[in-house]
Amino acid sequence: MEAKQLSPRSVHITTFGCQMNTYDSSRIMAICEELGFVSEADPSKADLILINTCSVREKPVHKVYSVLGSFKHLKRKNPGLILGVAGCVAQQEGKKLLDQVPYLDLVMGPKAIEDLPELLQDAASGKRRSHTPNTNPILGLKAAVTRQPGLKAMVTVMQGCDNFCSYCVVPYVRGREKSRPADAVLEEVAALTAGGAREITLLGQNVNSYRDPESGAGFAELLAVVARVPDLWRLRFTTSHPKDLSPSLIEAMRDIPQLMSLLHLPAQSGSDRILKAMNRGYTRAGYLERVARLKKEVPDAALGGDMIVGFPGEDEADFQLSMELVRQARYDFLHSFIYSDRPFAKARKMEPKIGDKVKKRRLAELQDLQRDISLELHTAQVGKMEEVLVEGSAKKGQGLVTGRTRAGRAVNFAGGPELVGSLVQVEITEGRINSLMARQVDQGGST
Ligand code: SAH
Ligand code: SF4
Ligand code: F3S
Repeated sequence: MEAKQLSPRSVHITTFGCQMNTYDSSRIMAICEELGFVSEADPSKADLILINTCSVREKPVHKVYSVLGSFKHLKRKNPGLILGVAGCVAQQEGKKLLDQVPYLDLVMGPKAIEDLPELLQDAASGKRRSHTPNTNPILGLKAAVTRQPGLKAMVTVMQGCDNFCSYCVVPYVRGREKSRPADAVLEEVAALTAGGAREITLLGQNVNSYRDPESGAGFAELLAVVARVPDLWRLRFTTSHPKDLSPSLIEAMRDIPQLMSLLHLPAQSGSDRILKAMNRGYTRAGYLERVARLKKEVPDAALGGDMIVGFPGEDEADFQLSMELVRQARYDFLHSFIYSDRPFAKARKMEPKIGDKVKKRRLAELQDLQRDISLELHTAQVGKMEEVLVEGSAKKGQGLVTGRTRAGRAVNFAGGPELVGSLVQVEITEGRINSLMARQVDQGGST
């Protein structure tokens, strides 16, 4: 009798959290593919489901439990299904997750991704395991994620964080900061551009403290060599910690043509008292000085920020200082968050806690203010000529394509799908809160 053709096993990955987690999910996928898995968008058809989790605030952690709950019936339907939790909640909770969720097969921390093959073997033989080592592995060439579909790809330059901002769980779940050898970064970028990527984002919790473990070269030097990789049109990076933002990085943004004019520089608060309690290592004046330097050297740069409202002890005057900082920095985009207590983080024990009602009101005020600023800044773009990397058809509106300017601003304009993947010159015609409208000023564009 002819042997029955076995269909390949399939894997579904659900990802929460920051770009670091998205990158880790591509690493996990690359390992699964090597093991013969194919990717499956529908979890109910998958043989392996992995939830890559985020623990930075309370809300995303709740989501993990509700997603796990929604997969419970799949386990009943398909007893061979392997269900796993990866990422920062895995690291934080470890074995507790196995105890609390009896239908869960494996728990894998972010530093254990390379051990996935072994973990899957154990899970298949019925051994439930929590694997959450404390040390970041060296992400050498072997760990390269050389296949990321599309025009845009991400490359990790460092893992972990040593800053211990008092509200933050990341240093505890991601471990000590470890820079990746520049050779491995370069090799990965080159493989990605050879595969069609044109825009690369270099990732780290605090890229400014990057140091090549082999040569000792800093981040600005890394940018200069990565920018020379053939067929790389655009290079960006995130996130920058204000305390480590060096003049050489701003000069790199001014001088390296491939480097996008975009800086995400979270302030977190505008009050020196709160910044100190947050252990951020800079003052309001120091922050604004860096912003001024950026605006002087790279006048068309887009600036992004993060702000936390309702940190323990934040009074109305502190909050108004944050509002004032936002007015002065004039962010293109601002991510604002309601403070939440995190495990291990020092601020957990700080008092007085701010009530929910106050936190929500402050968040709404900040967001209203930012909406006005975004609209003003975007309206001021009208009439400017910009180069847009076209990423795809616009979600809303037929016959429109969408892309980004060199400063990372989203632009929509009339055009067909043949423009996708090319650089197109446009004139900005309208500014909206979250995007710009434009018209094409030449035919086609370079590829
Ligand atoms: N390494 C990055 C940030 C990573 S976390 C940096 O330092 O910029 C992303 C954002 O989540 C932070 O910038 C902060 O604004 C927010 N955040 C982190 N911990 C938080 C908490 N406990 N409560 C509310 N927001 C928090
Ligand atoms: Fe968290 Fe601060 Fe590290 Fe960012 S720099 S990950 S906010 S500890
Ligand atoms: Fe979340 Fe972990 Fe990133 S806690 S923000 S997924 S580093």
